[in-house]
Amino acid sequence: MMAKNLFLLPGDGIGPEAMGEVRKIIGYMNSAMKADFVLDEGLVGGCAYDAYGAAISEEDMAKAMKADAVLFGAVGGPKWDHVPYEVRPEAGLLRLRKDLELFANLRPAICYPALASASSLKPELVEGLDILIVRELTGGVYFGEPKEIIDLGNGQKRGIDTQVYDTYEIERIASVAFELARTRKNAVCSMEKRNVMKSGVLWNQVVTETHKRSYPDVKLEHMLADAGGMQLVRQPKQFDVIVTDNLFGDMLSDVAAMLTGSLGMLPSASLGAPDAKTGKRKALYEPVHGSAPDIAGKGIANPIAMIASFAMCLRYSFNMVKEADNLEKAIANVLDQGIRTGDIMAEGCQKVGTSEMGDAILKEFANLSA
Ligand code: NAD
Ligand code: IPM
Ligand code: MN
Repeated sequence: MMAKNLFLLPGDGIGPEAMGEVRKIIGYMNSAMKADFVLDEGLVGGCAYDAYGAAISEEDMAKAMKADAVLFGAVGGPKWDHVPYEVRPEAGLLRLRKDLELFANLRPAICYPALASASSLKPELVEGLDILIVRELTGGVYFGEPKEIIDLGNGQKRGIDTQVYDTYEIERIASVAFELARTRKNAVCSMEKRNVMKSGVLWNQVVTETHKRSYPDVKLEHMLADAGGMQLVRQPKQFDVIVTDNLFGDMLSDVAAMLTGSLGMLPSASLGAPDAKTGKRKALYEPVHGSAPDIAGKGIANPIAMIASFAMCLRYSFNMVKEADNLEKAIANVLDQGIRTGDIMAEGCQKVGTSEMGDAILKEFANLSA
C-alpha cells in the first residue's frame, strides 16, 4: 500500500483544538484499520507570523505542494489585527489556495435531522436540507489587480479591489458544478449579478454555453446573487448545487451554514484540476468557520466541521468511500444520541466539550468500521 501523505496546518484559535480530534481519528485508522496515513505538520496564520514574520513559510508551502492532501484548521485573531496586510494570517490561506490552484471549493450544507431545531429557520424549512455550494476560489475580487489603496493627494484615499474573471475560470468551475450535480439531484443554480457587473454578464454567458455544449441533461437556472441569498433563507430546499464566484460564495456559504445549525458544522474541500498524467488533484480540506477567538482555548469548540472536512478528504483525495460514509454516519449517530457542543445545544441534550465530541464520534466510527 502506498503511504498517504497528509500535511496538517492547524493554524490559530480553535483550529488546533478541532484538528486534535481529527488526529485521534487518523491515529485510530492507522492502528486499528491499518490505514497508511503519514502526517507532517506546519504553521499557518498568526502562529506562522509569530514564528517567521510570514503567514506561511516557504518550507511549509513546499510541503503543502508535495502532500497528497492538506488539512487546514483556521487562521486569524485579534492578536494579529494590526500586522501588515501582506502578512496577516488570512494571507497564508489565500496563498495556499492560489499557489496550489485550488479553484473549486465545495461547501456542502447538510441539515442533520437531529439539528433541525438548532437552525435559525423553522425546522420544516431545513429538515433534510442538502445543498452543495460550489465556490470559485482562485479568482474574482479576491485576487484581481489592481488591489491597493492610493493616496489621491487631497486628503482623500481610494481603496481599489478588482473583480476579474476569464472564460476558462468560469468554464472549469461550471463544469465541476455540473459534474457534481449529475451525482446528486441534477440541478444547478448559477448566481451572479449580471445586472450591474460585466464579470456577471460573462459568468452568465459562459455557464450557459458550458451547459449547452456539455451538460444539457442537467437542469440549469440563473439567479441574481442578492435574490439568491434571499431564496436561500426563504426556501433553501429548492436548491441542489449552487455555483457562484469567490466573494458571493464566501457570503452565501456562511448563510447556508446557519441553516444547518452552526458554523461549526460546515466542512469544505478545495480542489485543483486533475493532473493530466496521474489524474491526482491537489486538495486542501478546511472547515468553513474561522478561528473563533471568542471561544478559543476553552475546549468547547465544535469539531464536527473539521472532522467532516476529513471525511471529504477520504472521499475526494483517497476514494475511501466506505470510510467517508462511516465517518459522516458516525457524526449523524452522535447527534441522534443528543450529544452536543454548546453552539448546537438544545433542551434535553447532553452538553460536551471538543474532546468529548471527538471521542463520541470516534467511538461510533469504530463501531461502524468493525
Ligand atoms: P468565526 O467563524 O471564527 O466565528 C464566528 C462565530 O461562530 C463566533 O461566535 C464563533 O464562536 C462561532 N463559531 C465558529 N466556529 C465554531 C465552532 N467550530 N464551534 C463553535 N462555535 C463556532 O468568524 P469571525 O469571528 O468572523 O472571524 C474570526 C477570525 O477568523 C478572523 O480573523 C477571520 O479572518 C478568521 N477566519 C478564518 C477562516 C479560516 O481560517 N478559514 C474563516 C473565516 C474567518
Ligand atoms: C472562508 C474565509 C476566508 C475567505 C478568509 C479567512 C480569507 O472567510 O474560507 O470562508 O474569505 O475566503
Ligand atoms: Mn468565509
